[in-house]
Amino acid sequence: MTGNLEQIIRDAQKAVKEAATNEDIEKLRVKYSGKKGEITALLKGLKDLPPEERPRAGEAINKARTQIETAIAQAQAGIREKTMELRLASETLDVTLPAEEVPQGHTHPNTIALEELERIFIGMGYEVVEGPEVEKDYYNFEALNIPDGHPAKDEQDTFYINGDILLRTQTSSAQVHEMEKGRLPIRMISPGRVFRSDAVDATHSPSFHQVEGLVIDKGITFADLKGTLEVMARELFGEETKVRFRPHHFPFTEPSAEVDVSCFKCGGKGCSFCKGEGWIEILGCGMVHPHVFEMNGIDPDEYTGFAFGVGLERIALLKYGIDDMRLMYDNDIRFLDQF
Ligand code: DAH
Repeated sequence: MTGNLEQIIRDAQKAVKEAATNEDIEKLRVKYSGKKGEITALLKGLKDLPPEERPRAGEAINKARTQIETAIAQAQAGIREKTMELRLASETLDVTLPAEEVPQGHTHPNTIALEELERIFIGMGYEVVEGPEVEKDYYNFEALNIPDGHPAKDEQDTFYINGDILLRTQTSSAQVHEMEKGRLPIRMISPGRVFRSDAVDATHSPSFHQVEGLVIDKGITFADLKGTLEVMARELFGEETKVRFRPHHFPFTEPSAEVDVSCFKCGGKGCSFCKGEGWIEILGCGMVHPHVFEMNGIDPDEYTGFAFGVGLERIALLKYGIDDMRLMYDNDIRFLDQF
């Protein structure tokens, strides 16, 4: 019996030493201490021994069991340690590797143009205010001297929500909100989205952006308007830029003008970009119409003012030489990546 036990212990220790994986060890545990294991069988066999032999045999078997189970536990610990070492080695971080690039968003050309305009006008003491996109006819048309039946109302094909409420066709409506506040003088620009029922093509979109400007004070003249817009054009397109005012008509300004800048591609000689003109139109402007003042409770004999409206997309397209407005709305990352 004792000889047999020693053999079992030796075999077990040898087998445990050779075991390489947790599964091998588990098999050995079952082989010796499992329900049908060799040691378990010996313990079960105790009852068949003469009673006087049982205590000694029992002690010997238990000792053998402890020895085998200790060997198994040590082997398990060894395997755990080795597994951890392997894992640590395989997961080592090389901190000198170049970092993975995190994709970053880009500022949209419209936003770049807007930020530039805001910088220019804030620098001249203007406030930036916002007006609502959903407007009453009164703010978008009537208070701007565009009564029902006025042809200008047709020119700006309007999205109506009902007979009186509409999506603003121009940021000029923000002028009315500003005058309505009753605080003078006014020096403001108001950027925002406008809507017109236009079909989409390279130069039209049913929704685009404008930046409105309004200055009202005592003694404001057309010379102030000219000087202001010249500063703006030079800051936007470069020191060399020349500005040209052409007489025009807007119902809410008198006199009114359209403003062209010298083509910054050819410097005014004429090229494909300016269609041979040498000039590019950038905005509409004028002196606030006395009737608009009266409609908004401002005395036109005391105050004068100028206003202008720039198409933001137009500025962005010109600045970057983009020839199709649709690119501005497609969100194509290959396009946006360039800014
Ligand atoms: N609202 C005009 C448009 O959408 C642009 C404009 C012209 C605005 C003259 C003005 C202005 O404030 O004085 O075409």
